[in-house]
Amino acid sequence: LSNGLGLTPQMGWNSWNHFNCKIEEKVIRETADAPVSTGLAKLGYQYVNIDDCWAELERDSKGYLVPHKVTFPSGIKALADYVHSKGLKLGIYSDAGYLTCSKKMPGSLGHEEQDAMTFASWGIDYLKYDNCNNDGSKPTVRYPVMTRALMKAGRPIFFSLCEWGDLHPALWGAQLGNSWRTTNDISDNWDSMVSRADMNEVYAEPARPGGWNDPDMLEVGNGGMTKDEYIVHFSIWAISKAPLLIGCDVRNMTKETMYIVGNKEVIAVNQDPLGVQAKKVRMEGDLEVWAGPLSNYRVALLLVNRGPWPSPVTAHWDDIGLPMETVVEARDLWKHKTLPRRFKNKLTATMNSHACQMYVLTPISSVD
Ligand code: GLA
Repeated sequence: LSNGLGLTPQMGWNSWNHFNCKIEEKVIRETADAPVSTGLAKLGYQYVNIDDCWAELERDSKGYLVPHKVTFPSGIKALADYVHSKGLKLGIYSDAGYLTCSKKMPGSLGHEEQDAMTFASWGIDYLKYDNCNNDGSKPTVRYPVMTRALMKAGRPIFFSLCEWGDLHPALWGAQLGNSWRTTNDISDNWDSMVSRADMNEVYAEPARPGGWNDPDMLEVGNGGMTKDEYIVHFSIWAISKAPLLIGCDVRNMTKETMYIVGNKEVIAVNQDPLGVQAKKVRMEGDLEVWAGPLSNYRVALLLVNRGPWPSPVTAHWDDIGLPMETVVEARDLWKHKTLPRRFKNKLTATMNSHACQMYVLTPISSVD
């Protein structure tokens, strides 16, 4: 969507994966403190996004949404002011239906302009727009109404379409939003994570600066996967130019979680200005090669072992878009080391089960 937002994939946090409906303003305020104190804000994590369950079930007598009186007693405007005072941005959630997915608050269907004006007046910077409990009409009818309402509301608001991928939003989302879901909801386990990655991968073409495929939010730090599996999760999301929306309790992050979501070099691949989503360019059973171009003729490369045993995987230049005979320097993004030897025509690495290696390959003029 040409609203000047999302020139690189959005980065931040969202309440749903960890808190579900158990959110309150105190959690959001403390969450807004965390990116600043942990250094996540400096790494680019700027959106603090409230998901479902922030409002009263009933609108007020004039049809306005009412922040939940018990859990958000100070209202959303005060929360936006607080989040802005930390140098961060506040996101909110609604639905292109009569009720949101939790059924605990109203959706915006029929109230699009009024709600967009409300969000803008509160200082909201991001809207996630879900698809539950609608009137049965197509999302391509309902979503544009909110796109136009946001554009009229006079505030730049990042628009995240949450249509779960049913009607291939990757094929129509770019005109309407800054990102669109390509999958149904992720769960905190390996199979769910890799299957979301696969569903998202087939839509690589339409992703571009201003509009990104969204395979759902990160589960890193929620406890259901091993460290290596979470590294695979974060690496695939990064190379796929997916939104990097942390979904754990950032107030109590372990060192391991911070090590993963705080990897500057992996984040730089995600935020590269070229904005091209990587593809799975080779599969040999459980062994996969993912690659995509980066700015300055570099290539992002991810080798993944989805199988049960340690195995070597080879990336061949003709699979990853490098001319044969090209000599490259390889930077290992998880070891933070440039490999001592140079590579020509292929690169092979051995990986443990459910683990990966991620590199940036930079062409150089000669082997020395
Ligand atoms: C849907 C969305 C989730 C979350 C919930 C909230 O399932 O896909 O990401 O927003 O609704 O109820």
